[in-house]
Amino acid sequence: MKSNFLRYVLMLVFVAKSLFSFAEEGMLIPSLIAAFESDMKAKGMKLSASDIYSVNSTSMKDAILQFGGGCTAELVSSQGLLLTNHHCGYGQIQSHSSLEHDYLKNGFWAKNKSDELTNPGLTAMRIVRIDDVTKDVLMGASSKSDQAVIAANIKKLCAAAIVGTHYEAEIKAFNYGNDYYLMLKEVFLDVRFVGTPPNSIGKFGGDTDNWVWPRHTGDFSVFRIYAGKDNKPAAYSPDNVPYTPLHYLPISFQNRQEGDFTMVYGFPGQTEQHVVSSYLKFIIEKERPARIHMRDLSLAVIDEGMKKSDLTRIQYSAKQANIANAWKKWIGQIEGLKNLQAVQLKLDEEKAYKEMALSKPEWTRYAEVVNKLNALVEKDQQIEFKYALGAEYFSYGPEYFKLVRGMEDLVTNYAKYAENGELAKVIEKMKTSAEGFFKNFNSDVDLHIFIDQTKAYLDYTEQWKEITKDVKYSVANEWFLNYVKGMAMEIYANSIFTNQERYMAFLSSFSEKSIKKLNKDLGYTHFYQYFQSFRNETVPAYRTFQTSVNNLMQVYVEGKYTMFPDKKHWPDANSTLRITYGQLEGSAPTDGMRYTEHTTLDGIIAKYNTGNPDFDLLPRMVELHAAKNYGPYAQGDDLWVCFTGSNHTTGGNSGSPVLDKNGYLMGLNFDRSWESTMSDYLFDSNRCRNIVVDIRYVLWVMDIYSDAKHLVDEMTLMKE
Ligand code: ARG
Ligand code: GLU
Repeated sequence: MKSNFLRYVLMLVFVAKSLFSFAEEGMLIPSLIAAFESDMKAKGMKLSASDIYSVNSTSMKDAILQFGGGCTAELVSSQGLLLTNHHCGYGQIQSHSSLEHDYLKNGFWAKNKSDELTNPGLTAMRIVRIDDVTKDVLMGASSKSDQAVIAANIKKLCAAAIVGTHYEAEIKAFNYGNDYYLMLKEVFLDVRFVGTPPNSIGKFGGDTDNWVWPRHTGDFSVFRIYAGKDNKPAAYSPDNVPYTPLHYLPISFQNRQEGDFTMVYGFPGQTEQHVVSSYLKFIIEKERPARIHMRDLSLAVIDEGMKKSDLTRIQYSAKQANIANAWKKWIGQIEGLKNLQAVQLKLDEEKAYKEMALSKPEWTRYAEVVNKLNALVEKDQQIEFKYALGAEYFSYGPEYFKLVRGMEDLVTNYAKYAENGELAKVIEKMKTSAEGFFKNFNSDVDLHIFIDQTKAYLDYTEQWKEITKDVKYSVANEWFLNYVKGMAMEIYANSIFTNQERYMAFLSSFSEKSIKKLNKDLGYTHFYQYFQSFRNETVPAYRTFQTSVNNLMQVYVEGKYTMFPDKKHWPDANSTLRITYGQLEGSAPTDGMRYTEHTTLDGIIAKYNTGNPDFDLLPRMVELHAAKNYGPYAQGDDLWVCFTGSNHTTGGNSGSPVLDKNGYLMGLNFDRSWESTMSDYLFDSNRCRNIVVDIRYVLWVMDIYSDAKHLVDEMTLMKE
């Protein structure tokens, strides 16, 4: 009897759980977190708002850093030890790798602090405080779009904020300029590389599994912040010492279960929850498919090259991962938005908005804003299309373009440098950076990217018409292909930008005459023929379009806050520090499918040996698994590898700590599931899940797999 009753209760709980996700939309500003404290506590949190964010004493925020300007990282020891994702440290890992020291393939662990490797240019930034400065920024402005006054106020306020400190200040617009916050920052300049697992752990599953659940990636790498003897940021020096943090995160070393409270603290990059229906339609039907196609072209060439040669594999691994990442996300986004009929949802929302605006006289200023936005997008979307394609071609297309752009400063300022006697120094610097460039450059790969992308770019932007007026010679025609091929042959055989010797020799003998020589170099002239119009026409037109959209969005969003005060509002992500919370939770994204909330080492072994190199393992993994050598890191008989949470995250949240109810580190955020990638536009609590690598797996890889227990010993493990 009793057990039947219990089963019945459990069943009810299960049904209730699968119907009601506790997922919370929104990326909250830490300085305003007190408003959510009671809701977070109701969901299991034991912390107070001031444990999470405080300016009067140390708090969790002091352990959260923006890593290298893009990702998030967290401090986990009193000696400045820093964790982030493997894919966030990938550029550094790769730059320390060579055929002799293949850290990508074998991993790397500094045996002691003197083995830790420096990374010129890498920074880690801590937020000192966040202040609402909306009133001060708008002081004296005739409207919220009075950019001249706003910019002057921002400049003044930033300058005042850093007087007498070693900090930096930045003021950012939130909600399309309805609000402004000042961020005071401490930027550390000496961040050293401590360790990484091999790719077969850190990138296990590769692009096959990227953006996909179930997942088994040990996506972490280890760094350490060094500071001057006064514990303040300092440029690299052998005399620097490990940084002593104000706060570091204890490790959540306990069993976990579905329903546990989770919170993600980090620097999400960009969300666009407010875009209007016509814009979303443009993204789904036109812009994304074209960008996806441009990347299809490059990836086909790069993948082929990487398969053929180990050197090319090492040279292109970071670049390939970078191109493939957004490419795959976009494919998932389009699918998700279509499935959810997002455009129709937007249309419904816009209708309700307009009706509300017409319901009270004081709201009439909102009545036409949606129509205006949609009309503007219809009229000018071609500008954004051209801009997006230019971004693809010039930034992700043929790579020699980067060297051409790098020449611009020398060409423009030649006379000045020659006069100041700075010429030799400038040229030396260019040579050093070119060495780095050519280390990872294969001109045959670049040539084929050039051919495919140039054709597609001239097609999409209709610039082929500048080459031939005759439609019968359009891009589809063989004549055009041969034209592009001929140009490519010439550029890659003779241009100074496609060969290290030619380039270095050109720099070594650089003189006034060299500038004339450039104008006879087809690699150079081809680039500028199209880049000039992109820079001088497309980019300014795009900026004007953006400003007009922004001004309307400001009113549109203000209307949402004013007319729908009971809805939960949150400002779109903008690379500032945010908090999002939910719970450890699986999902049922489509009919008939149910994802469990965690994966284990058994799953790694099951994916191995299936013929796909993305799932290759080194023998050690198989041996440790066979011996079930999990040390103290297992839960029951299993070693958890990853889990999912219902936390609203986006790009930039990579490396973010996922924290338990006590603020202890449960794992590192590194991805979202395929079905959730559309959450940048539309969050759906039933399907949106972030993917986390369990900290216990991270520690197992350090301690047992890699024999780097000294790092685990630096941390504080919380067993209850
Ligand atoms: N999708 C994750 C993010 O957006 C991970 C990317 C790195 N992994 C990869 N296989 N490319 O950054
Ligand atoms: N991998 C992403 C990053 O680099 C996080 C995944 C996401 O977009 O949610 O930030």
